[in-house]
Amino acid sequence: MKLLLLGSGGREHALALKISQSPLCEKLWIAPGNAGTAQCGTNLPFGYNDFEDIRKTCIKEKIDIVIVGPEEPLVNGITDYLLDAPELSRLFVIGPDKNSAQLEGSKAFAKSFMQRHHIPTAAYREFTAENYDDGLAYLQQHALPIVMKADGLAAGKGVVICNNHFEAISEFELMIQRAKFGDAGKKVVVEEFLEGTEISVFVITDGKNYVILPEAKDYKRVGEKDTGPNTGGMGAVSPVPIANETLMKKIEEKVITPTIEGLQKDALDYRGFLFFGLMIVEGEPFMIEYNCRMGDPETEVVMPRLQNDLVEIFQATAEQKLDSIKIATNPKTACTVVAVSGGYPGEYTKGYTIEGLEKINTEQTVVFHMGTKLKDGQVITNGGRILCVTSFGLSIFDAVEISKLELENIHFTDMQYRQDIGYEFV
Ligand code: AMP
Ligand code: GLY
Repeated sequence: MKLLLLGSGGREHALALKISQSPLCEKLWIAPGNAGTAQCGTNLPFGYNDFEDIRKTCIKEKIDIVIVGPEEPLVNGITDYLLDAPELSRLFVIGPDKNSAQLEGSKAFAKSFMQRHHIPTAAYREFTAENYDDGLAYLQQHALPIVMKADGLAAGKGVVICNNHFEAISEFELMIQRAKFGDAGKKVVVEEFLEGTEISVFVITDGKNYVILPEAKDYKRVGEKDTGPNTGGMGAVSPVPIANETLMKKIEEKVITPTIEGLQKDALDYRGFLFFGLMIVEGEPFMIEYNCRMGDPETEVVMPRLQNDLVEIFQATAEQKLDSIKIATNPKTACTVVAVSGGYPGEYTKGYTIEGLEKINTEQTVVFHMGTKLKDGQVITNGGRILCVTSFGLSIFDAVEISKLELENIHFTDMQYRQDIGYEFV
């Protein structure tokens, strides 16, 4: 089978490695990929938003399956665009159509979906310039803290948690009147704050059936003990100790099944990964958000634990036969620690040489590239999050210690990483 994977992060390196290990994979291309994906297939010289180049490649190389890594092309309709081409009538895309991708692309769409299908979530209201004064009045009487979300995609920055009413009102004004997040923030969801433990649960669905992949927890704040600004994710663990059988059963009954049935009831054609961002409050799951893709860095612990052939899962998804797949998971713990550029998530410099990658003990550890590229045969930094080191261990402590030990082999200027991934479970 010929596969094309879209994206350039650690998630894509983890997917590319898993795909390349399948006997069903005849050839893999990645657009644009990074220095890590170049070891698993052929990187292409265009980006994941270059729809026309992607379509031309699918036709020229007779691609069977396209896997869409990031949300942006999905929300912009890459699936509809590719399937519209008469030459691509046999193509299958892992990733929902534009309409269904609104589950991630519009917070208001997702909240109304959850409400309609009785999926537990925080109470909310939505506001625009048209009911701005109602919004101000609503905020003034709202319990603290107040969660405010730009409706559209805002590169992971569109959620603001306000600890006083003054801050909430000024954020609200910035979003709606001054377009702080551009068009994405013209509509704002104001939501009740939920206190608990966050976990990420992943399924892949063929529109009818679904399978549940190993769960994970990621660490979003840049600083130790979850302090400082939010990032794309500084590390992840899988399995998550609180996700015992009882909780996973509740998540399936109260969240996953109603979601898959809701998609069918609403005639949303959803085929691909679906990521449930959950808050566990006193043992009960509440939906925080849907993502129409896998998580990053969660994929870098989920894929190493998945023992199935991923291409076989994709094939079953294409044929709507996911009910024939039984997921097998490595019972060991996987943890990943992300190394970032100095200054991230603020300003940082790109282009530093990365040294020591060849010293890693690949028996128990794998390095996934996140923001890297090849220049004159050398791997250089090319983003904020640079690479992550995933290790298996008998416990979270064990796995994190191995990753940290291996990270001591790797060097680039101003490299930083969190020492305490998984700290609350140690
Ligand atoms: P999102 O961009 O939707 O992933 O939200 C970013 C982060 O904001 C989440 O991972 C949570 O940590 C936090 N968050 C979002 N909604 C809520 C909520 N209702 N209560 C508490 N925290 C929240
Ligand atoms: N790590 C969180 C995400 O991928 O959205």
